[in-house]
Amino acid sequence: MAPKVRYSPKEKVLHAIPASFLSHAKFGFYFFLFFSSWFLLVFTCFPSLARGGGPPPSQSTARADGDQFSAAGAVGTCPEGIARFYVYELPPEFNHALLHRCRTLNIYTDMCPHVANRGLGQPIPRPPDDPLRRLHGSWYATHQFIAEMIFHARAERHPCRTRDPLAAELFYVPFYGGLHASSNFRQPDLVERDRLAVELADYLVAQPAWRRRAGGDHFLALGRTAWDFMRNDAGEGSADFGANRLLRLPAVANMSVLTVERQPWKGRNQFGIPYPSYFHPRAAAEVAAWQDVVRRSRRTHLFAFVGGPRKGLGKAAVRETILRQCGASRRCRRVECEAGSRRCHDPDRVVEAMMGSEFCMQPPGDSFTRRSVFDAVLAGCVPVFFSEHTAYTQYGWYLPAGAEQYSVFLKGEERWGRIEAELEKIPPEEVVRLRHRVVELIPSLTYAHPNASHLAFRDAVDVALARLTQGVRRRHRLVTEE
Ligand SMILES: *[C@@H]1O[C@H](CO)[C@@H](O)[C@H](O)[C@H]1NC(C)=O
Ligand SMILES: *[C@@H]1O[C@H](CO)[C@@H](O)[C@H](O)[C@H]1NC(C)=O
Repeated sequence: MAPKVRYSPKEKVLHAIPASFLSHAKFGFYFFLFFSSWFLLVFTCFPSLARGGGPPPSQSTARADGDQFSAAGAVGTCPEGIARFYVYELPPEFNHALLHRCRTLNIYTDMCPHVANRGLGQPIPRPPDDPLRRLHGSWYATHQFIAEMIFHARAERHPCRTRDPLAAELFYVPFYGGLHASSNFRQPDLVERDRLAVELADYLVAQPAWRRRAGGDHFLALGRTAWDFMRNDAGEGSADFGANRLLRLPAVANMSVLTVERQPWKGRNQFGIPYPSYFHPRAAAEVAAWQDVVRRSRRTHLFAFVGGPRKGLGKAAVRETILRQCGASRRCRRVECEAGSRRCHDPDRVVEAMMGSEFCMQPPGDSFTRRSVFDAVLAGCVPVFFSEHTAYTQYGWYLPAGAEQYSVFLKGEERWGRIEAELEKIPPEEVVRLRHRVVELIPSLTYAHPNASHLAFRDAVDVALARLTQGVRRRHRLVTEE
């Protein structure tokens, strides 16, 4: 019998390229025009500003993560706090060769449109009267499980990359493990299912650079959840849902593993990175302009739910009550995601619904985390969580320590049952404060365009590299002090 495949309904339907556009953002059109022309003026007339000589005021939130970064933002300068890193040139079967069979990389979805443009996917075309046309080239219909490709593309052009292993403090292993896993879930022969992972480990331990720190300075970035790489052959009552054993291999256990969802209890060496959303800016000014559009968005609904029901899953039980309450309230905006519906995979529709709502429901589904959380942040919609494992135990590198600063946590069935009443209790000035904090998170939770050459903000990849740098330097100090 073929093993059960843990494919989510959300994966079964994938969008065509959307033709609609963010009509909802039209109100911000003049504001946006004003700001874009203003930035253009400022950067043309005062080039010193572009080099970090003193930021225009509304750029400040895009630079929330530290001034030294933007000061070092000149082309090709490796900013302070990020170590020189080496990118392995792996044999192609570990990454690029997988893309040759993009049609079969996922049993439900033809991945060919999604692996295009180094994983950004297809550009979202903008009609001539679209207020976002100025951001044309920065919006893509990006697949939720493709972070590993975007990370690779960004890393290859990163100013801290070195081609000399002896000069590197960190070693990036660009294995497209998520794409490989999703093409292999139905492989009943477990040895065959694990083969590529085992070959990767063998390849790595044979490298001279590995021996320096036994892999402690090496890292992987994976676009699927850690669960997909942690099959437990001892059984422990868990059905085989198609996972391989990559993260259980001794060599990989010595590395740092970046993943869109860590295993909250056993993922000691696992670190949560954002799911990619749709905005891939090339410059801080673009981020600031988008943040202004989002801040001024007219929010006609109190809450929104973009998603569908899940059957027979304990942690997803809350979805039933959310759907019921949303259907019964005129203050809830719903984008349905039943199998066969393309709507919830249409980036414009999703972002528009979220930009028109104050709060966005983020219940667990097939796993604890959701890409939707990052879409909500991009739209300035305050996320409402029902499990601490949807964000709080996942993205410690990216989110402020105080969850109440940027989110609402409805813990327990009693509070799930009255979502509208719970949200109404929050005073309007508190809602504004929450949203402000959410909008400030946009730059660091965004994957910048891989061709961006001098970013004056820290994107998701920069934050990960800075945290990996701290980790490897701390461990090195410990070792040398012993
Ligand atoms: C980056 O730039 C190169 C050369 O300028 C171009 O060929 C490539 O398509 C660009 N990459 C993306 C993802 O747009
Ligand atoms: C993992 O690290 C430990 C401790 O540094 C080391 O003894 C072991 O050989 C490493 N494993 C591999 C496969 O390199």
